[in-house]
Amino acid sequence: MGSSTNKPELIVNGKRLDGRAFDELRPIKIEAGVLKNADGSAYLEWGKNKIFAAVYGPKEALPKHTGDPEKAVIKCRYSMAPFSSLEEHGRSGPNRRAIEISKVTKEVFENVIMSENFPGTEIDIFIEVVQSDGGTRAAGITAAAVALATSGIPMRDLPYAVSAGKIGEHVIIDLNKIEDNYSDADMPMAISPRTGNVLLLQMDGSLTRDEFKQAVEMVKKAGQTISRIQREALKAPYEKISNKYK
Ligand code: CDP
Repeated sequence: MGSSTNKPELIVNGKRLDGRAFDELRPIKIEAGVLKNADGSAYLEWGKNKIFAAVYGPKEALPKHTGDPEKAVIKCRYSMAPFSSLEEHGRSGPNRRAIEISKVTKEVFENVIMSENFPGTEIDIFIEVVQSDGGTRAAGITAAAVALATSGIPMRDLPYAVSAGKIGEHVIIDLNKIEDNYSDADMPMAISPRTGNVLLLQMDGSLTRDEFKQAVEMVKKAGQTISRIQREALKAPYEKISNKYK
């Protein structure tokens, strides 16, 4: 969220600056299994965001003392390429923001991966943002879920994530960068669609109780679309094969 000085008009004639309605997602495309060396991978375009997710493992936890005899250890590295936005990033190593996003993403997947099946191992999740335009933590989680599914690692559910927020009195879904910078609230959420469990909820700014309820409803409605796109991406390679033998 930015300061209110020089705040641009984010809603013009009842539409957002990119022409979307308040409850409209940006276009989302996901391709599964794009990286040969990874055990699971996905490439996602979400509006102007472009993100790769790669999964390695389960493999022996190294160094050995980092392993857990009861379950797999989940590791996550979210990283934004220095060339991914117009903003100056300085160095390309992990900064506070990347460390925070890596941590909350790891916690999302600790709640859905059946890690008890793989004691003594680690599962590495990498999220590389090569072009960013707001909402990359949500888009990264959505892509990583597909990458994990292609790796064959058993999960209790296929989580999705998206942000809701507020501009003036309007609750909106899927904030882009300019909206993220100048909105009155930004609330990324990740959800387990089968159970409805909330796996991530962060909040920048504030919402009233009613606005919060409205935002959660919008996230769940958008989630139906996001989940469908994730499932279609997972099925697509098999549909290609079955069409070949028709
Ligand atoms: O991407 P997300 O909304 O999850 O995270 P954020 O910290 O709220 O950042 C919003 C957007 O600002 C990012 O998606 C980037 O487009 C941009 N950003 C940037 O260009 N450089 C940074 N160091 C941090 C954010």
